[in-house]
Amino acid sequence: MAFPEAFLEELVEKNPIDEVVGQYVHLTRKGNRHWGLCPFHNEKTASFSVVPDLGLYYCFGCHKGGGVINFVMEIEGLEYPDAVRNLAKRAGMQLPEEDQRQASTLRRKERLWELCRDAARYYHRMLKIPEGQPGLKYLLGRGLTQKTITSFGLGFAPDGWDNLKKAMLTKGYTVEELQDAGLVRTRKRQKQNPDGSLREEVSTYDWFRNRVMFPIIDVRGNVIGFGGRVMDGSEPKYLNSPESLIFNKRKNLFALDKAKKTKMGMLVLTEGYMDTISMHQYGFDCAVASLGTALTSEQAGILAKYTRQMVLCYDGDQAGQNAAKRAIGVLEPTGISVRVLRMEGAKDPDEFLKKFGPERFQQLLGASEDQAIYQLETIRRKHDLTVDDEKVAFLKEAAEFISTMSNQVEREVYCGRAAEIAGVKRDTLMVLVEQNRKAKVRTAKKKEERKILRPADQVQPADSSIKYENVRSAMAEEGIISQLLLEPGLLTQTEGLKEEDFSSPLLGRVYGWIRNRWQQGLSTGVSAMAGDFQPRELSHITRISQKYETVVNEKALGDYITVVRKEASKRGNKDLMAALERNLGKKGYGG
Ligand code: CTP
Ligand code: MN
Repeated sequence: MAFPEAFLEELVEKNPIDEVVGQYVHLTRKGNRHWGLCPFHNEKTASFSVVPDLGLYYCFGCHKGGGVINFVMEIEGLEYPDAVRNLAKRAGMQLPEEDQRQASTLRRKERLWELCRDAARYYHRMLKIPEGQPGLKYLLGRGLTQKTITSFGLGFAPDGWDNLKKAMLTKGYTVEELQDAGLVRTRKRQKQNPDGSLREEVSTYDWFRNRVMFPIIDVRGNVIGFGGRVMDGSEPKYLNSPESLIFNKRKNLFALDKAKKTKMGMLVLTEGYMDTISMHQYGFDCAVASLGTALTSEQAGILAKYTRQMVLCYDGDQAGQNAAKRAIGVLEPTGISVRVLRMEGAKDPDEFLKKFGPERFQQLLGASEDQAIYQLETIRRKHDLTVDDEKVAFLKEAAEFISTMSNQVEREVYCGRAAEIAGVKRDTLMVLVEQNRKAKVRTAKKKEERKILRPADQVQPADSSIKYENVRSAMAEEGIISQLLLEPGLLTQTEGLKEEDFSSPLLGRVYGWIRNRWQQGLSTGVSAMAGDFQPRELSHITRISQKYETVVNEKALGDYITVVRKEASKRGNKDLMAALERNLGKKGYGG
């Protein structure tokens, strides 16, 4: 969806970046820069900054950066158009006409979101009155704290056919809206009239009755549906909202609204509401659940937007393990790394946490235990330990592996394990490990030194998916971009420089983008780029704008251009030669 430029300009203007960021981060002003703790990575000293004059933010620690729209995309986990709508709302701006059509669906959705939120409030309120005490008792009985109940907005649907319906009609919602949200169902019955003819009687009734309620909240914080659990052994154990205009099971994950903000560096996928909530209560705010179905490819795609590391934490039974296997297959195309957590002595995470506590669970997650033991086991299986030579080989390999652990205590523990497996003394192995370790530290140091001596490595973008093929040229290209971001008027001096001359496709695109916009009289700053560049690309562009000197330097610009042109012509020559060779080769063999 393309928004009109004038609209976007006004949007950026009416949403000063320091104010918008200030809603999430406490900022302190120093000169023309505002500083705060980065909301995108864990830190204790501020390396996150906002420059209102340039309309950008940039973190010197994790290198995330961009303009105000991009900030909202990143922090709220929104797609570009939704971030724009979010900011329009914040500034009290009318959406442009082209967006009106979508807006009418949006209005319908907003009405249903509102209804579901009011229903959630209603269910939650029930826990505080006498009729709702069975629900409260059940939730507390499952070990949930009052704080957890509040933070997840849990509730209770009282027994009876029309409690919610009445309450919501009083609030001004219609039966139709209740139906659309899946909160009431319609029943049609044939009734006989006194004269023998038939008439159809239509009645509606609450879908959720006598159940504890779990609101399902989408990634933007809207209530979109519910799961309701019985409090005894009756069936079905869980009842979910039907699919609706706002509730698509394939595209949502329970608790992702919370987990997307985790700083644990991973997301953990569980099978159920209770497992997820329990994990959050014990401090594992990285837990999410698929919604009573197998993981879908849509959900996998969404997860991949928020993490590079997925941990599957399914029930320990055969069904759970099969589901985990299927989930791995579904996650594979996204390219994120997937680990499976194996719990022993408990059927699911909820039970595990209650039985063994969060420290043991943390160990599983940190994979120190399970991964290391798994590795040791793998090494063991490679060798026949009844043969002396093989035993030595096993110990060497085990020592090599253990020496990669950075923690002294950990190394001691696993030396003990490996020594036990091989039937030798722990100290013997420990000596071997420490030798290995010293050697490793030495090579690491050398490597580091070499790196400093070879600047080419250092200038590669932080994001490894943007790699410079020609570093010499790319440095000059960065210089050009930084100057143009500062003063697009310098484009009068880049005449003849073409997008294709850039060795970095991204920087070439940035150059083309700035030139195009400048020619049309549009703004060319980082804050206008969110619609045309990926967040990670934008982070890199922002980094460039922060890396170079902040004064216009026409002489430097000229030098940069010379370098880029020279490198481009070298490339051109090489291509030409290759083409010639191919041609000659063909002729040679053919003739
Ligand atoms: N589920 C469902 N319908 C059912 C049973 C289960 O939709 N009849 C879904 C729910 O989302 C549930 C998940 O599957 O959270 C896992 O089911 P189960 O392992 O039975 O639930 P737990 O989360 O372990 O529930 P509890 O601990 O409350 O028994
Ligand atoms: Mn359970």
